[in-house]
Amino acid sequence: MSSDTTPLLAADDLHKTYRLGQVDVPVLKGASLHVSEGEWVAVLGSSGSGKSTLLHLLGDLDTPDAGQGGIRFRNRPIDEHSRRERNTYRNRSIGFVFQFYHLLPELTVLENALLPTLVATSLPGARDRAGDLLERFGLGHRLDHRPRELSGGERQRVAIARALVNKPEVLLADEPTGNLDEQTGGEILELLQQEHRRGLAIVMVTHDRSIADMADRVVELHHGQVETTSVVSR
Ligand SMILES: Nc1ncnc2c1ncn2[C@@H]1O[C@H](COP(=O)(O)OP(=O)(O)OP(=O)(O)O)[C@@H](O)[C@H]1O
Ligand SMILES: [Mg+2]
Repeated sequence: MSSDTTPLLAADDLHKTYRLGQVDVPVLKGASLHVSEGEWVAVLGSSGSGKSTLLHLLGDLDTPDAGQGGIRFRNRPIDEHSRRERNTYRNRSIGFVFQFYHLLPELTVLENALLPTLVATSLPGARDRAGDLLERFGLGHRLDHRPRELSGGERQRVAIARALVNKPEVLLADEPTGNLDEQTGGEILELLQQEHRRGLAIVMVTHDRSIADMADRVVELHHGQVETTSVVSR
């Protein structure tokens, strides 16, 4: 990553303190992370180090403590976006994948993948795009099935199709293989690699060093800050 290019997604000096009753729990204490266009960054860290917290802030699912640092997308602070732009950021620029899939059980595979396209900020042509993604992910014959009829790996592929249906530039993935056996997890990672080769930037949280090493760059959350541990050369 050269220092003179503007990062696609930049988190600078993020602080996040949770308030539990009278007690303040500081989790992020000046965490910074810059992600270039098309870059794959893995975030390692022990349980409770704040990995999910960081990802939620990057995706604007939660906000950092006021008055210190913030998130920029294409060099614009997201807290300066209008409400509509901010919705567009969450819905179109970013895709989110969780460890436990979070599919809606009463909807079919296709309907789950189409969920992000039901809001005003969506791209047109959603039905075809969702169908194409699911086809590419080997689920073309399962479009009308419910999540309970699918294996864990298949459910995660639906969740990834849902995350990509509005063509985000960055995929935020929180332990995307954490609930899967090694082989199924490997298939999910291969699929992420495929999307990465098509130009998708990925921020992937994991506990697992060998999984992290698939990324272009590995950072580690430690004492509330992001430390670079390695740049993987290929
Ligand atoms: N909504 C919340 N309210 C209060 N405390 C929280 C909240 N969310 C997270 N925490 C606390 O913040 C710390 C960091 O949590 P976070 O979920 O970001 O860690 P993590 O690195 O993702 O852990 P894991 O690897 O177990 O998923 C933990 O101590 C957690 O208990
Ligand atoms: Mg977590």
